[in-house]
Amino acid sequence: MIVVGEKLAIHGGASVRQTVLPYGHQWLDEADIAAVVEALRSDWLTTGPKVAEFEQAFANFVGARKATAVSNGTAALHAAMYALGIGPGDEVIVPAMTFAASANCVVYQGGIPVFADVDPETLLLDPAQVEAKITSRTKAIMAVDYAGQPCDYDALQAIVDRHGLALVDDACHALGGSYKGHLVGSLANLNTFSFHPVKHLTTGEGGMITTNDAGLAQRMRIFRNHGITTDHRQRAEQGGFFYEMVDLGYNYRLTDFQCALGLSQLRKLPECVRRRQTIAAHYNAAFANMSAVRPLVVRNDVSHAYHLYMVQFDLEQLTVSRGEIFAALRAEGIGVNVHYIPVHFHPYYRRRFGTGPGLCPLAEAAYERLITLPIFAQMSLTDADDVLTAVDKVMRYYRR
Ligand SMILES: Cc1ncc(COP(=O)(O)O)c(C=O)c1O
Repeated sequence: MIVVGEKLAIHGGASVRQTVLPYGHQWLDEADIAAVVEALRSDWLTTGPKVAEFEQAFANFVGARKATAVSNGTAALHAAMYALGIGPGDEVIVPAMTFAASANCVVYQGGIPVFADVDPETLLLDPAQVEAKITSRTKAIMAVDYAGQPCDYDALQAIVDRHGLALVDDACHALGGSYKGHLVGSLANLNTFSFHPVKHLTTGEGGMITTNDAGLAQRMRIFRNHGITTDHRQRAEQGGFFYEMVDLGYNYRLTDFQCALGLSQLRKLPECVRRRQTIAAHYNAAFANMSAVRPLVVRNDVSHAYHLYMVQFDLEQLTVSRGEIFAALRAEGIGVNVHYIPVHFHPYYRRRFGTGPGLCPLAEAAYERLITLPIFAQMSLTDADDVLTAVDKVMRYYRR
């Protein structure tokens, strides 16, 4: 727990909170701990039965035929790019407003991430911007369900159908969300998830890819196991030693005790999403009366999973920039964050692909006014009220 201490908030008066409210936090209970302990007492710490059990339960939950467990969300993205056969010179269209891993996975395979701009109100990949970036080298589109809101899949599907491309959903934010009644995880050719502690479901580190394509699932199963066709348990069952490495793969396996935790966490996933939606509704109602604070727009054909809750500040109404607002909220004991610095701003991308300011102006403008407020399942409405009190205090202090 980070203590704010006795110091005054930088814009006057005592801090709203004495201990920092984080922007995200895991939700673990005794059932989760018991599930892990039971797995630790079993014969299989990795490549055991819990892996297939978790994969099947996860596939059933999202309504996909196949699920492949991997060691983290980045490995899930890498496996997706591998399964689609992305290789040197291939282009994949990626939104500028996302975590770097959404683009890095393309580079791992020797491909080129082509950054497309986002809708300024939802910060989701804008289908019109995607269409404008398609070339003869484009192989796939990476949709990112930013903050937990599913993208416009009908529009994106129409584009991939027209151009013969693959559609990948980086759904690392959106487990439990849905688009037109269809759950995230069933919306694209390949759908990737992360089980990092701030996500809806955690296995410490962990990831999953869902698909209806058994061939792609099989490719990813081999990829996560060094490119070898059988794993340790299968060979033990067959009583033989022989195995073949058919392609260059990685060790991206998820352990049995992590899968046991995932299975336990999956049981409370609907409740986890409901709690996040309650906090978001509480924020939305309050921000309707604060003109300088604009929550991201939510379309009416989706159910938003609220991994994150972002607002954009109307800086024209304020005397300071986002940096000062960020520092003031931190001094109030609110663990605000910024998701994200546009990927094409990072030195690596500038150096390697010559990207930089001006490439995706809407994402860049949003970045200047964006802040992530705390949201997680075990946060109370009293905690949310502390956030609202702090935001209101900071807005009043810096009003023009
Ligand atoms: C949009 C997005 N994609 C991919 C990842 C990578 O997931 P992991 O941290 O499990 O590797 C994250 C992680 O935060 C993410 O937010």
